[in-house]
Amino acid sequence: MRNSKGEIQINSEMINKIILGDIEGVLPKIEDNSIDLILTDPPYFLDKMDNNWNYKTVSTIADYCHTVKSLPPGMKFDKEQGKRAYEWYFRTSKELYRVLKPGGFFFSFSSPRLYHRMASAVDDAGFLIRDCFVWLYTQNQPKAMSLDHFIDKLDCDEKNKNELKERLSGWKTPQIKSCFEPIIMAQKEYERTFLNNMFKHNVGLLNTNMKIGQDMFPSNVVTTQEINEFMDKCFLLPKPSKEERGEFNIHKTVKPLQICEYIIQLTTFSDNAIVLDPFVGSGTTAVAAKKLGRKFIGIDVNHEYVEVALKRLENIEKEKVQSYKSQKTGKQLTLLEAKSKYLAGKEESG
Ligand SMILES: C[S@@+](CC[C@H](N)C(=O)[O-])C[C@H]1O[C@@H](n2cnc3c(N)ncnc32)[C@H](O)[C@@H]1O
Repeated sequence: MRNSKGEIQINSEMINKIILGDIEGVLPKIEDNSIDLILTDPPYFLDKMDNNWNYKTVSTIADYCHTVKSLPPGMKFDKEQGKRAYEWYFRTSKELYRVLKPGGFFFSFSSPRLYHRMASAVDDAGFLIRDCFVWLYTQNQPKAMSLDHFIDKLDCDEKNKNELKERLSGWKTPQIKSCFEPIIMAQKEYERTFLNNMFKHNVGLLNTNMKIGQDMFPSNVVTTQEINEFMDKCFLLPKPSKEERGEFNIHKTVKPLQICEYIIQLTTFSDNAIVLDPFVGSGTTAVAAKKLGRKFIGIDVNHEYVEVALKRLENIEKEKVQSYKSQKTGKQLTLLEAKSKYLAGKEESG
């Protein structure tokens, strides 16, 4: 199959691979209507995290800093950021729409500040915006800064400065503590009816056998952090383990594996389903797909992250072999036990 530029499109060469490259070069190689689910965490266009994401510059961003020289992420407000994010995500979403099967879902993590731009881009590219998921957490470093540093620089005496500081005590720059990430839930137009679409393409419905919290109907609020009894009962997914991201993982924005697993199980019907993550980073979506026995295609433009993703996938493979071996040893032991019991019984009766 060839795309409009005459380039050959073959999915088989990309299945279960993490591809190093820019989406603009890689996505056109994916066949039309061939992907079951797109689950991704794109650049949020905050500070240095735009579509020119570079491992070295992103690594130097301080999470939280009290000095003015190095502002924390999301602090530098630029009206153009949102427009640039929209234009870029609109182009990207049009291409994602092409590769997704009719009725297939597209889940995209986003930021509270630029969600409206990202969701509009997805909407305008042709998708039906079905919902907005919320990934809830309580532990996050507030980024608001005190004004004392600026007051110290004012041209007035110490007494005035101290009075001002007292009057503005507790008043900080406008960054509330961020405790959620919105996730766009979009769907490609389905063919005729949901049932017809499901028969033909194996996608388009939600798997409500997938439970959340204490056996609850799947919801659009998810958390991987114990909050209180009531919240946990409704929204809690399994807690991430320390090992799951890998000690070697140098990515700044690793998403919880459990949320990726939840979304994959909620939306993919067939074991042959292909999950695409065009901004795979350290490979969380690919790891989740592999653990659940689904196929995946991961893309990232930074080789440092591709290497981490490959290592994480390799570890999953090792874990699988290990668990197969211990299962086998368990079975062999049971057989040996049964044999010795049989022989003991024979001796007694004989
Ligand atoms: C928010 S991170 C994804 C993190 C991922 N969810 C994880 O758990 O590790 C976004 C990724 O998009 C990649 N990226 C940015 N622009 C890209 C482009 N034009 N093409 C492909 N990848 C890109 C970055 O290198 C970065 O790793």
